[in-house]
Amino acid sequence: MPHIFAFIQRVVDARDPDIASHQSRLRSYAEGFAKHLSLNRDDSNTLAYGAEIHDIGKLSISESILHKPSRLTHAEYLLIQQHTQLGAELIQPLSLDDLVVAIVLYHHENFDGSGYPARLSGEKIPLLARIVRIIDSYDAITEDRPYHKGAQPADAIAMMHSDAHWYDPDLLKEFTAFISTSVT
Ligand SMILES: [Fe+2]
Repeated sequence: MPHIFAFIQRVVDARDPDIASHQSRLRSYAEGFAKHLSLNRDDSNTLAYGAEIHDIGKLSISESILHKPSRLTHAEYLLIQQHTQLGAELIQPLSLDDLVVAIVLYHHENFDGSGYPARLSGEKIPLLARIVRIIDSYDAITEDRPYHKGAQPADAIAMMHSDAHWYDPDLLKEFTAFISTSVT
């Protein structure tokens, strides 16, 4: 039911265009990287939809925290982390594919077990969530923000390699190849 994802994206855009454009970019990265990985059609579609709505839970977070111009307190940071579970709760009545829900819930899990919300590690993290973890970081590092200019693709990849313990090593290797072929 692709229309559901388009609807969710419009709702997000109405509340917060920055989150919506981040989600749109992630959908594009997801489509390109799925091709690079030769994922089957079902997984490619699921990945694209999950990427497009992965931060839906941020709608449940107060505006004043989401757009706080100064540094977040530890308590505020913990609150923002709740967007993963809040997102899964928001979409629960839609009975979406379990793998889409897994992307929303687990896209901040780190390969070394240091992520959230469940501190899953390695292949216990669903594959599609491990992929979104990587493209989400890449977009955050390369995109211009009010307080910092986005990094160039090669610099972003280098930064991700210096934090390689967060990412599935095979996927990071493939993503590095994908970016170097798509940005020439
Ligand atoms: Fe997120």
